[in-house]
Amino acid sequence: MLTPPNNMPDKPFVIAIDGPAASGKGTLARRLAREFGYAHLDTGLTYRAVGHALLQNNLPLDDPSLAVKVAENLDLSNLDRSLLSAHEIGEAASVVAVIGGVRRALVEAQRRFATQLPGTILDGRDIGTVVCPDADVKFYVTASAGVRAGRRFEEIVNRGKQAIFDDILQDIRKRDERDQGREDSPLKPAEDAHLIDTSKMDIETAFQTAKAIIIKAKAV
Ligand code: DC
Repeated sequence: MLTPPNNMPDKPFVIAIDGPAASGKGTLARRLAREFGYAHLDTGLTYRAVGHALLQNNLPLDDPSLAVKVAENLDLSNLDRSLLSAHEIGEAASVVAVIGGVRRALVEAQRRFATQLPGTILDGRDIGTVVCPDADVKFYVTASAGVRAGRRFEEIVNRGKQAIFDDILQDIRKRDERDQGREDSPLKPAEDAHLIDTSKMDIETAFQTAKAIIIKAKAV
């Protein structure tokens, strides 16, 4: 009979990372997942996958019954980051994310993901507040809209494409408004979240700050 290794905990260590678009939360989550050997889920990809499936089939984004059906059948093990990272898919994700039934279906799948041993890291908008309110450590990663738009601008230009800074800034503000203003699970820091403002902090400093907080929490 197989017995679990005796250093394997019986309960996963869960880390919740929330924040607005382009705050650096995804990069931070990936680095922490590598550091601690935890499974990582970018929950934005789950909303993007629903938006993408609808767009691809020329279906409306605001028909709840269609969107919920797609969300209920989503396979979390098959999320293609490079395909889903397109700007228009992010916009579509933000639109389907206001549908309560879509959120319920995706949150259920995200909670199942969070139960893996030895630990998991989920990043998104409502992880610390709704998906994993009992997470062991919560972070809220943010930066000014101007800094975030600058990062997006650089990413696009570095890929050899053209971009207009003011358009990106406007999109970021629009997305913030939609994510923070929606009725169901709006983007906001959990009361017990550690705030990390990356406006004037590079990713290495953010990573070291978060790592120290996690090590301390694990020692308790
Ligand atoms: O993080 P992102 O840009 O990939 O997210 C795309 C959209 O998905 C975002 O604008 C809002 C929605 N989203 C959400 O409502 N809740 C989450 N936990 C993650 C993303």
